[in-house]
Amino acid sequence: MPPQDKTTNLTESPWPIGEMLVKAGQISLNHVEAALAHQSKQIEPDLIGEILVREGIISQPELMAFLVAKFFEERKEYAAQPLPPTAIRFAGVEKTLDGRKVLDRVDLEIPQGKITAIIGVSGGGKSVSLKHMIGLMAPDRGQVFVGDQELGSLTKKQLLRVRERFSMLFQGSALFDSMNVFDNVAFPLREKTRHDPETIAKMVRKTLAQVGLSGMDAKFPDELSGGMMKRVALARALVTQPEIILLDEPTAGLDPIIENAIHHLICDTFMRARYTMVIISHAIPQIFNWCHHVLVLHEGKILESGPSVVVMESQHPVIKQFINGNLTGPIKVI
Ligand SMILES: Nc1ncnc2c1ncn2[C@@H]1O[C@H](COP(=O)(O)OP(=O)(O)OP(=O)(O)O)[C@@H](O)[C@H]1O
Ligand SMILES: [Mg+2]
Repeated sequence: MPPQDKTTNLTESPWPIGEMLVKAGQISLNHVEAALAHQSKQIEPDLIGEILVREGIISQPELMAFLVAKFFEERKEYAAQPLPPTAIRFAGVEKTLDGRKVLDRVDLEIPQGKITAIIGVSGGGKSVSLKHMIGLMAPDRGQVFVGDQELGSLTKKQLLRVRERFSMLFQGSALFDSMNVFDNVAFPLREKTRHDPETIAKMVRKTLAQVGLSGMDAKFPDELSGGMMKRVALARALVTQPEIILLDEPTAGLDPIIENAIHHLICDTFMRARYTMVIISHAIPQIFNWCHHVLVLHEGKILESGPSVVVMESQHPVIKQFINGNLTGPIKVI
């Protein structure tokens, strides 16, 4: 077969990482074919990178560096592209908690297959918004759509089915204290899938290795540092490989090196499978580098929504003050 045809085949085949690496001249098409030839079973699209690593064609750090560099390019291009379809939408969402209007007629859209960051001052309603997305909280007024399904119109069973498309890392990690690390990460697999114990064990160990926690299986949450707990919670959110991943403060309380490592890991995970991801973050300004899209939530309203490269340059006084961390400005701190 002439090489041209082979490339066309590869483009049409569902191995975007293999295709990207070939196009960038990092590996040859023969490498991909050789790696695939060694595999007996049907290959998941996101596994091609892993197979190339296992076959020694590219190292794990090289692959991650490549994917992150690609992501940075994409993130810039995103600003010039038409908006992708919407995965989650709020229409006029209102929520009052303890007599305070936490969400005040919020309209927002989360783009499908992209990373969206939600930023804003403490108490602004970020975590409450995330809980509305997954149907853990219902709006007093307005509607929440996941795809074309309006959550308020669903039966309990239908809502559960929608929830299965999500995974969530809660702000406080929310690990089960009575379970060790292995069981915490295995929990959603045992609940949501019918994988046999051996497959579950493989998936758990692989994900723990990705978050840098190999060999920690038997530890209990009270034996872990805050950073380790976050990483276990992240592993639990990633292990089921759902369509939509919601991460509430995945790097809060971590040292800058681990924060950076977690951002790399989230990006690497995204590039392999193109989930819709929503990340609430106080890692300002770093988080702007790690997302396509940003929503700024302030006093129950969306102040700005757009590509991260655009929002980063916003001249809105509240956003400028927030990004720069100034004590003086429209946000009254003290
Ligand atoms: N279950 C609840 N019951 C009553 N009030 C709540 C509840 N959950 C949140 N709130 C209130 O809603 C407001 C917004 O809370 P939320 O947790 O969404 O803030 P946030 O933007 O995530 O802040 P942070 O950055 O500090 O996490 C706060 O005033 C909080 O006290
Ligand atoms: Mg919060």
